[in-house]
Amino acid sequence: MSVPSGSVLIREGATEFFVPSVHSEKGPGKRVGRVFFNDQMAFNRDVTVMLLKAYPRARTALDAMASTGSRAVRIAHEARPDLSIVANDRDPEACEYIAANAEHTGSGNIEVSNDDLRCLLARRVFDYIDLDPFGTPVPFVPAVMQGLKRHGVAGITATDTAPLAGTYPKKCLRRYGAVSMRSPFGHETGLRILIGHIAREAAKEDKGLECLLSFYADHYMRAYVRVVDGGGEADRTIAGLGYIDYDRTTGERSVSRERTSPRSIGPLWLGPLHDAEVLAGMTAGENLQTMRRCAKYLDLWGQELDVPFFYDNDELASLVGTSPRRLESVLEALGASGRVSRTHFSPTGIRTDLALRDILSIYASVKER
Ligand SMILES: C[S@@+](CC[C@H](N)C(=O)[O-])C[C@H]1O[C@@H](n2cnc3c(N)ncnc32)[C@H](O)[C@@H]1O
Repeated sequence: MSVPSGSVLIREGATEFFVPSVHSEKGPGKRVGRVFFNDQMAFNRDVTVMLLKAYPRARTALDAMASTGSRAVRIAHEARPDLSIVANDRDPEACEYIAANAEHTGSGNIEVSNDDLRCLLARRVFDYIDLDPFGTPVPFVPAVMQGLKRHGVAGITATDTAPLAGTYPKKCLRRYGAVSMRSPFGHETGLRILIGHIAREAAKEDKGLECLLSFYADHYMRAYVRVVDGGGEADRTIAGLGYIDYDRTTGERSVSRERTSPRSIGPLWLGPLHDAEVLAGMTAGENLQTMRRCAKYLDLWGQELDVPFFYDNDELASLVGTSPRRLESVLEALGASGRVSRTHFSPTGIRTDLALRDILSIYASVKER
């Protein structure tokens, strides 16, 4: 076996693979070295392992931007030895890593491909496609939508969280065709703008969309979506997109199907962020690299109410004109009057279907810690 020069063998989860000895340890800031590897994305790869284990329908998979092939070998070794996987990267040096890692894992079900993913997907189709670019996935989403088989699933990462979450609204409008805005729940609207964009691209192929799992973590957003073939499905999906109106003075949020004011964020996905059945099938096995974190997120995702925005504890305190109350006390008080949950987007986030005026009056009644 030819081991790439300057590489080091590491273990992530239950899988060993070679990575450049100098590599990123935190993202997304600097790209370190020619062939990219980021330790911090172990959680992202763990989630792929959990999800593909829980989703046995896929027979073929493409890791479209495989880099060292870390995700492909982890899928092959830990999730689905039965899956036929293509690990692709347009960089020939990356392909040396993929080849070495496929051989080291010895799984025998990984094909190495050195191509631009858009060329590859013009020729071949897959049940699962993973898209993990530097920055925005936008230039590649059309190719992914064309390259998915019937009922195929795509796992798509976006690390351009600043435009999506409202720090650079012009960039978001250019890339995603959607208005973003800073808000206490900006990462959620950013994730929903990303899914809304994928849905509009799918619709061009007469495909509707279901969201199996989507989340924000560290410096990225990630969406696992399943396409459902048919013009009717596409129309239904598009009809489900809409806007969230946010008034930063009053804190009021509301959902609308049309753009009603300059405060409308979107178009964005208003549907569920997680599929309960898929989530129920996912388990944080002890071999995962970030097992505790996976267990924590599975728990949070499972509890999260299907309301398309949340409030922040500090924000509510400032709207009431008081000091922040203990989060547990606030959750308990709100829970006595309506549905309430935490959210994975923020440790101080509160999701509820209560009206804001009720939330504020209940908040005002919560005793100081
Ligand atoms: C962020 S890295 C992928 C990291 C990898 N998925 C992991 O988990 O370690 C992005 C990779 O995409 C590759 N790439 C960029 N544009 C591409 C294209 N058009 N087609 C195929 N690969 C591409 C780059 O060479 C790079 O290796």
